[in-house]
Amino acid sequence: MNIAMISSEVLPFSKTGGLSDVSYSLSKEYVKLGHKVSIITPFYRDSDKKISKKLKKVMQIQVIMNWRKPLGNVFHVEYDGIDYYLIQNQQYFERGGLYGYYDDGERFAYFSLASLEVIKKLPYRIDVIHVHDWQSAMIPCLIKEKYFDDEVLANIKTCLTIHNPMFKGYLAKDSLFDLYNLGVHLFDEGKVRLDDQVSTLKAGITFSDKITTVSPTHAEELKTVEGSKGLWYDLNLRNDDFIGITNGIDYKEFNPSNDKFIYNNYGIKNVHSEKYINKINFAKKHDLNPDLPLYAVVSRLTSQKGLELIKAMADFLVSQGGNFALVGSGESDAENYFRELEARYPHNVYCYIGYNNELAHELYASSDFFIMPSAFEPCGIGQMIAMRYGSLPIVRRTGGLKDTVIPLNEDDSNYKEATGIGFDNYDVLSAIKAVSKSLILYNGKKDIMKKVIVNALRSNHSWKKPAMEYIELYNSIKK
Ligand code: GLC
Repeated sequence: MNIAMISSEVLPFSKTGGLSDVSYSLSKEYVKLGHKVSIITPFYRDSDKKISKKLKKVMQIQVIMNWRKPLGNVFHVEYDGIDYYLIQNQQYFERGGLYGYYDDGERFAYFSLASLEVIKKLPYRIDVIHVHDWQSAMIPCLIKEKYFDDEVLANIKTCLTIHNPMFKGYLAKDSLFDLYNLGVHLFDEGKVRLDDQVSTLKAGITFSDKITTVSPTHAEELKTVEGSKGLWYDLNLRNDDFIGITNGIDYKEFNPSNDKFIYNNYGIKNVHSEKYINKINFAKKHDLNPDLPLYAVVSRLTSQKGLELIKAMADFLVSQGGNFALVGSGESDAENYFRELEARYPHNVYCYIGYNNELAHELYASSDFFIMPSAFEPCGIGQMIAMRYGSLPIVRRTGGLKDTVIPLNEDDSNYKEATGIGFDNYDVLSAIKAVSKSLILYNGKKDIMKKVIVNALRSNHSWKKPAMEYIELYNSIKK
């Protein structure tokens, strides 16, 4: 099958969150399964320079957006068996960041329209276009409403994946015509209308042949009023074409037995003796006591990730005799809070405010527990990496966290299957109870803890199964 992934961020070029990992790793898995994959993505100012040097200009495109007629250069490179096409446009993408600009609606309208121009010019035909989140979600609508008689585009199947339902891609009503040359009837009929604005995500939900989100539990949450961030009605309408497929993680990049970023490699057979050496090394480097349990957070610091609970858990565990280490950046209040926590407890807390991939790997390998109490979590990647490194996740059971971690029950009687610790309600008391369970495990129930660590290492979260599920889904689209 010939698959085109349209993603506003993708490794190895650009990344702000999990979307970037997913569009890359899933594509790599498709290649392994024998499919041809083309990824179309913007060429940002800060797109990784090392690989960018190998890019070759292969086409020039022009997009018509009403009176605007922006050009674009398209660069190609083959990387890990994937055909990457990067769209360069100075006005829209030569900026310091990826998102958060007043004209994001226009920038990604350009990206969506330009991606279709690239597909028209490819030397091969595409069977399925897979779009991700609001940035490219208008594409299925464009194919059905604008290019319905286009020789190349009209028959291409479409799939939309919702990674983050918070972002709707809101636009003013007149942008429908102004940016996309689409008729206002689409708004009046409610097909692209949400909160009385145009929403590109809603357009994707209405017009995509199939819709997915990144775990089955989150798919159910998205159909409820409380859990859907406003999308429940539209997703219930499309219920027959909407499913959750749990993401995987890149088993090559995240492998404690040959990870170059960690001090001492280990695997399932020697985890109990060898993982500890990483903790000693980490503790020495950052002036922490290696005999205390080490709790890790690797996260964007945004409210989605449960900042209030992370703070309460960190405070509690440090006061009970634990160490806390964090790598992440985001909301400045949270950044300051963790800086202060480190100043208050210099021998129990280490915080790195910023993005640091190498340090993140070290932390997965050194920690005993991994804290992830998200307010909502479509899938989540950190908890799966943590399990792969034998760091037991402590999660709030929402979305993908519920689907990927088997929590120890109250009396630990399921310790033969359990892979972590979980709690249901989003409140401080429940979060602290979960931390105290972990402290009891570490200090008083070593055998159970060892078994759970082995279970976590054994659990399988590779991309193989999800990739096959996506292919099956693509195949089920009838044209
Ligand atoms: C978003 C979600 C996260 C998910 C990721 C990849 O970042 O918040 O839960 O893992 O997308 O699908």
